[in-house]
Amino acid sequence: MSLPWQNIFQAANACLMEQDTKTKIDQTNQAQKAWLAGQLDQTPSEEHPHPIEVPGRPDRPELVSPRHLPRRNMHSTEGLAALIHSLCHIEFNAINLAWDAVYRFQQMPTDYYTDWIRVAVEEAYHFSLLRDHLISLGYDYGDFVAHNGLWEMAVKTDFDPMVRMALVPRVLEARGLDVTPGIMAKLEEVGDQAAVEILKIIHRDEIGHVEIGSRWFHHLCQQRDLEPTKTFEQLINQYMKGKLKGPFDKPVRRKAGFTEAELEYLDGAG
Ligand SMILES: [Fe+2]
Repeated sequence: MSLPWQNIFQAANACLMEQDTKTKIDQTNQAQKAWLAGQLDQTPSEEHPHPIEVPGRPDRPELVSPRHLPRRNMHSTEGLAALIHSLCHIEFNAINLAWDAVYRFQQMPTDYYTDWIRVAVEEAYHFSLLRDHLISLGYDYGDFVAHNGLWEMAVKTDFDPMVRMALVPRVLEARGLDVTPGIMAKLEEVGDQAAVEILKIIHRDEIGHVEIGSRWFHHLCQQRDLEPTKTFEQLINQYMKGKLKGPFDKPVRRKAGFTEAELEYLDGAG
């Protein structure tokens, strides 16, 4: 069967803009297979990558401001489902974020694309695990409202892979590394062992995703002769008003590619 795409940027754009969740996941897996089989090249598109205010997503969930998210009492099935839904939404966004990192930055080394395609595939897997679990609780993706914070940061950082790597994987996704063990403990408390097992997989994979972000951030700093800690700090000041939420899980962040100097800086910003 012939492929619908010639190069990885067309494939990434198609996966990114696909609205149907199942098709998005199928295409994501198909694109990785084709990439690894050497069937897609990395010739940049002739036109400049287009800005994407709204990536491919189903009509629901309805997006609201974070203030309007429901409070979760995890002792009710509805509250538990709302929590699983919010995690499911993060993973859905993460598929799009990974494809956007491929689609938008077309002058990167081959390994960069292999890395972010792998992230897209793993995020699609996480999304499927959580969605199936949500269905087992009697709900589905789209049944609760959600917020758009992750994609908003994608739009703000769509002009430079260094800025993207600093702010999306190393700030937003890295925050997930700090808080996941606490969420797992709560799930354990309410007896949702199945969700705990899913989060174990996610936590393990996410360390790898943040590490990919760290590696490419450091690579780009080095290429531009920029001191990475200072550069990271500057970007946090510019995009996060210098404030980050702690406490930080330092051993895990170390595994995810944060240097000692960066961890020291985080302590001050947290
Ligand atoms: Fe994930």
